[in-house]
Amino acid sequence: MKFNYIGLGTHSGIVNGGSGSGGSSTIGSKMSLGKSIKMYLTIFIATTCIYMVLYQYHISREPFAAGEVVKHQEKSSSYIASYLWSPISLLLANSSSNNNNNSTPTTTTTSTTATTIRTTTTAATVGSAGEKVGASSTSLQTVSLAAPKPTLHTSYGTALLRSGSVGGHRKTATTKQSITRTATKLTTTATTMAKTSAKQSAQTATPATTALSEHAHKTRPTFVAASEPPPLYIITPTYRRPEQLAELTRLGYTLKHVVNLLWLVIEDANHTNPLVAHTLDRIGVPYEYMVAPMPEKYKQTKRAKPRGVSNRNRGLEYLRHHANEGVLYFADDDNTYDISIFEQMRYISKVGMWPVGLVTKTGVSSPIIQEGKLVGYYDGWIGGRKYPVDMAGFAVSVKFLKERPNAQMPFKPGYEEDGFLRSLAPLDNTDIELLADECRDILTWHTQTKKNAPAQALNRTRYKNTNLEHIDKLLVRP
Ligand code: UGA
Ligand code: MN
Repeated sequence: MKFNYIGLGTHSGIVNGGSGSGGSSTIGSKMSLGKSIKMYLTIFIATTCIYMVLYQYHISREPFAAGEVVKHQEKSSSYIASYLWSPISLLLANSSSNNNNNSTPTTTTTSTTATTIRTTTTAATVGSAGEKVGASSTSLQTVSLAAPKPTLHTSYGTALLRSGSVGGHRKTATTKQSITRTATKLTTTATTMAKTSAKQSAQTATPATTALSEHAHKTRPTFVAASEPPPLYIITPTYRRPEQLAELTRLGYTLKHVVNLLWLVIEDANHTNPLVAHTLDRIGVPYEYMVAPMPEKYKQTKRAKPRGVSNRNRGLEYLRHHANEGVLYFADDDNTYDISIFEQMRYISKVGMWPVGLVTKTGVSSPIIQEGKLVGYYDGWIGGRKYPVDMAGFAVSVKFLKERPNAQMPFKPGYEEDGFLRSLAPLDNTDIELLADECRDILTWHTQTKKNAPAQALNRTRYKNTNLEHIDKLLVRP
């Protein structure tokens, strides 16, 4: 652009010079007229060019053409179902549509409302929060969860929700901020609704429920959390490697969206690693960090190793001592989890199963459901297994586990899931609850992280007194 202006300036200088030397003769004036026209034409073309360049620049700054932008909307039944499971989604939806919600009290489904009233009435004895609860049960007020009524949220939140009351010893981040706690409270409030819908859809995802759910995402009533949802125990095996802190960070922040959860992080090692503890503290999910080394004979083998087995068995042992209710789930540190699966698995009474993406050549490992019944399993490798499922594809009720004192995972590579599920016998196929929209949805993935070579040693002389001395201490080396 600058170049164009300079060009024009020079050109007009010549034109002026030319007209000056032409005097008052006709030829001179014709020449000067011709030059003027030429000058104006040049200016016109140059200006047009500049506009075009500016327009192109403007277009290139637009992130997407209008037709390429996909707006947040829920269409398929499974998506709606999962949307309801997710407490955070509920809150987000409310903040975008709370104007309507305040003025038009509408309930989600009849049965949801009924259950909620029952729950809230029971809680009416719980101090000041109870009063609020009692009031809402008589005149079931329906207000957006994210409606600007912070005092209401705070009052019942503080009294009723003991964040993470999942029994046993647990540690939480010391740096937890008040804003985080508030979010947890609100999330729990939303869970009451998710709980009821979860029960309905987890068992029978009827079209009627779907239709009602569809309406539900537009207007949301306030549901008061009178009791916490059943606890979740997430058993995560982990081991020392360059990717370890990254994997735990990613998984930890997924789990942070889930209320009433205890994260059992169990490392295949002889000692805990302060770097792991520091990472867990920073994430702020209630956790228990333990060690359970792989037996030496398996470590030495040249063949496939039973990865994460001693860790998981240590987790089971912990639960036998410290848990009485709720559900356990084996969440490997490198997989990917949609948080809605956690809200669904909470209510399992025996064993729940669902599909896992990115498993073997079939791309997915899943129970096969025909006419609502479990009729088999789809997986690229069956290997004579009774339960050819992936570790990320099932969860078990704590009560059910404790009724089977000998249930545990075998040190048998490839047969860990099968062996564990077999050890839960008696387990009838009809006792297996089919989650994720009766296994029509994928909410967990067996992702695998690329292995990184161990970081090379830092040249301490060259980088003395620099930040590198600090970050070098944060690198996990084998
Ligand atoms: C797959 C399954 O998803 C695992 O649940 C199963 O244990 C494993 O195969 C197996 O059959 O050996 P995959 O992705 O192949 O998992 O294995 P990894 O992700 O490397 O390990 C599974 C879990 O065990 C991870 O949480 C990992 O941190 C842990 N692990 C791995 C150990 O604790 N020690 C090890 O030496 C390796
Ligand atoms: Mn893995």
